[in-house]
Amino acid sequence: MTRSLARPVVCAVATDAAERAAHHRVRRAVFVDEQGIFAGDDLDPHDARDDVLHVVARVGDEVVGTVRLFPLDAQTWQGDRLAVLGSARTAGAGAPLVRFAVATAAARGGRRMVAHVQPANQRFFERLGWTAHGTEDYAGRPHVFMTIALAGDHQAPVLDEPGTQLGG
Ligand SMILES: CC(C)(COP(=O)(O)OP(=O)(O)OC[C@H]1O[C@@H](n2cnc3c(N)ncnc32)[C@H](O)[C@@H]1OP(=O)(O)O)[C@@H](O)C(=O)NCCC(=O)NCCS
Repeated sequence: MTRSLARPVVCAVATDAAERAAHHRVRRAVFVDEQGIFAGDDLDPHDARDDVLHVVARVGDEVVGTVRLFPLDAQTWQGDRLAVLGSARTAGAGAPLVRFAVATAAARGGRRMVAHVQPANQRFFERLGWTAHGTEDYAGRPHVFMTIALAGDHQAPVLDEPGTQLGG
């Protein structure tokens, strides 16, 4: 059962340098310091793309979570770097971040979203409507390749604007 964060979770695409820095701080805390998947930082060439979207989840003034998304082709978007700070976990920030990424990719014309998911999180994604397609090696570790259709029954509500309040 999810604990409720004291204040609503608000997801938004980072629009300035301070928000992008906060996004990267959360990723570093989770993927470098906590999980040790990357040494030093978790930046890769996708972070420098013109079409990459760095998303933050805020509770009040604090950025507690992140997700990143970018198109792979005209119809397919990838979502990755989903992270919630340990102190804010299982309190209802992760699911809104995934829904926000899905809705944002759909609103930008995507038809399918893909993700390379850590096996421990497969069920979390399945509960959000994603489908698993088997295991693979990704970033040097086993992951599950998962997808969700961005049009049709599984589509999350399309938001008018990034920044729309999600979850509570
Ligand atoms: C995966 C992660 C983003 C989930 O974020 P979160 O803020 O804890 O998720 P939420 O609180 O929104 O969880 C929503 C629901 O999923 C459940 N849930 C959370 N993590 C889960 C998991 N790994 N497996 C199954 N269910 C999970 C919650 O208990 C909650 O259930 P409820 O609706 O019945 O109460 C977070 O655990 C995290 O950052 N982990 C470390 C980084 C990581 O693994 N990133 C993903 C790489 S694929």
